[in-house]
Amino acid sequence: MLKLNPLEIQNSLNTRLIGHHIIWEYEVHSTNDVALELASKGALEGTVVLAESQTRGRGRMGRSWYSPPGEGIYLSVILKPPLPPQKAYQITFMAAVAAAETLRHLSGLEVQIKWPNDLMIRNKKVGGILTELKAGPDRIHWAVIGIGINANIVQFPQELQDQVTSLMLESGYPVRRIPLIQNLLRNLEKWYFLILEGNFPKLFETWRSLSCTLGNQVEIKIGEEIIRGLATRVEQDGTLYVREDSGQERPIVTGDVALIAQK
Ligand code: BTN
Repeated sequence: MLKLNPLEIQNSLNTRLIGHHIIWEYEVHSTNDVALELASKGALEGTVVLAESQTRGRGRMGRSWYSPPGEGIYLSVILKPPLPPQKAYQITFMAAVAAAETLRHLSGLEVQIKWPNDLMIRNKKVGGILTELKAGPDRIHWAVIGIGINANIVQFPQELQDQVTSLMLESGYPVRRIPLIQNLLRNLEKWYFLILEGNFPKLFETWRSLSCTLGNQVEIKIGEEIIRGLATRVEQDGTLYVREDSGQERPIVTGDVALIAQK
């Protein structure tokens, strides 16, 4: 197995902030756990934690993230955005846009974002983002952005098979993980600086243009409740609005969206 080499990633990375420190491990429970721990001990902003495999990779809503060795990309980035915690969704949208752009650029495949931040190809999940925060009432102390990408995985566990895919399964070719990681870190930095300069509306426009949720019939599971309807809009605070058959519009702040009909 060709292992990721942090020095090779840093060579020609040319970022100002993200990736100056890269911690590589062969196996961890979760790169997010390692990054949260490092952040609590004062790790510098821009530190990246990268692993070949995770034994307890975590997804959103208490799910696990399939993380076999050497075939995927599992990384976490520590950021310290000078933003109030209410604006943390900006960081998550940023990661989704940066990752979607990278995957599109390097695979040529039509990667889209399913609200809030799933990376999809042909309605199957190719990557996901888990942002975790430590924040006080007024500002975020640190944010750990965990990104998982199904790069070269060809065999998924049975129970995932109809919901997930990989770049290799879609394109027929193995992807080179190092250029992908470099491009991802550069894109993250580009959008991060734009947000800090107050340019979130520009990011949001790009998020919208990459979204496969808006304008489609969706089914959203929130705990035991299922909401069905048309995904009409997403507000700048990240809330998704769904118009139910009754005509009532429901704001959705968290949940699991299934696209039931794509226009
Ligand atoms: C989701 O779509 O549910 C989010 C998946 C996030 C997975 C990544 S892999 C690297 C980082 N470490 C984790 O334990 N999770 C994130």
